[in-house]
Amino acid sequence: MNPLPLHLLPDSATVDDAGRLWVGGCDVMELAEEFGTPLFIYDTDHIRARCREAVAAFGDTAVYAAKAFLCRAIAALVHEEGMRVDVSTLGEMAIALAAGVPPERLVVHGNNKSEAELRAALDAGVGMLVVDSFDEIDRLEALVDAGYPPPRVMVRITPGVEAHTHEFIRTGHDDTKFGFTVSTGAADEAVERLAASPAFDLAGIHAHIGSQVFRAESFAEAAEVIASFAVRHGLPELSVGGGLGVPYVTGEEAPAIAEWAATIRAGADAAGFDGRIWAEPGRAIVAQSAITVYRVGTIKEIPGVRTYVAVDGGMSDNPRPVLYGSGYEAFLPRAVTAPRPRVVRVVGKHCESGDVLVRDAFVPEDLRVGDLLATPVTGAYGHSMGSNYNKVLRPPVVFVSGGEARLVVRRETIEDLLATDLG
Ligand code: LLP
Repeated sequence: MNPLPLHLLPDSATVDDAGRLWVGGCDVMELAEEFGTPLFIYDTDHIRARCREAVAAFGDTAVYAAKAFLCRAIAALVHEEGMRVDVSTLGEMAIALAAGVPPERLVVHGNNKSEAELRAALDAGVGMLVVDSFDEIDRLEALVDAGYPPPRVMVRITPGVEAHTHEFIRTGHDDTKFGFTVSTGAADEAVERLAASPAFDLAGIHAHIGSQVFRAESFAEAAEVIASFAVRHGLPELSVGGGLGVPYVTGEEAPAIAEWAATIRAGADAAGFDGRIWAEPGRAIVAQSAITVYRVGTIKEIPGVRTYVAVDGGMSDNPRPVLYGSGYEAFLPRAVTAPRPRVVRVVGKHCESGDVLVRDAFVPEDLRVGDLLATPVTGAYGHSMGSNYNKVLRPPVVFVSGGEARLVVRRETIEDLLATDLG
């Protein structure tokens, strides 16, 4: 009867005698009453445990990819757990710095860093800049000529490895906007130029082959290519980026962080690399730590076609199903382990048919208007890719642990919407 696979829930999730879901020692239905819906609930013990796994596996060069989910509270948390923070825009950098992450713990990315972004990174004194293009090299050289101290940099290369994942989040192949291509010689040229220039303190090589990758072999292959490249140029540091996948639905499995690290190490060893390895997991740290809770407002049964269950959020709080055809599970926090014999389409409240959250969701027989409905594994690339489409207000984020709930991002208000609108 298609029960919800409980391992998709945050680590601290429990189901009480009445069948209701608790996360971080808090009753999820009560949280929904208190903070309203849609609501992101993050289990911070889960996040801490994943950070510790990453630090155990990669040491001081474990970096949290902030694009997966960023607010001051998460930046402070991952920093406290010993992770560095990868930021890829001025906005991400500003939030990490505002959270108290020291600039030397930041790794700065971006395929089109503006002069303002580069200046901000140099002004702050960030620990590592990942150089992505010849234009960026020109811009940085000009800034150093103008008086900035030479930044410590890695060169982002595209190793020509095809990751097995969705086309939009694949980045290791040659046809990409990111980095310097190995196969055309651009990567060698960039390294030689940076090594010869007094404007740079060249540390190593960076590559990111893609995201939501399940196959450990893809990482081993990439690590070997990147490591041989680093060895060839005599560079002591390499970063494999992020990309470790997580299960979202029944039947999916992914390597654990330790296994991922071991595979990468083996690939690097095979290439004779004995320097430091950096990694930038985002999804693997936060995805499973959160659930989104919605309220069901409308149910339409179209005989012979299907049943639509509309909730009070949608593509504005989770665009992944629309963008990548990503699958999610759905369940009722009041009856977590209930059989789910019905198949319905869970949709949002936006003005387009593509606004689907779960294409074919298994749900309990007695699902009704007014129910809370939740989707697990929404901690990465949900809130962070949220929008105000249809002027829908972005949902709040609550951190839970040990029976305490802390509102870390409040719900947007109509005043927030009007704040940038000058009339
Ligand atoms: N490092 C770099 C340079 C990256 O570009 C990314 C992700 C990461 C690390 C972190 O990757 P992760 O460990 O989270 O897979 N919006 C898409 C994912 C885009 C990933 C972009 N870059 C999604 O929702 O699936």
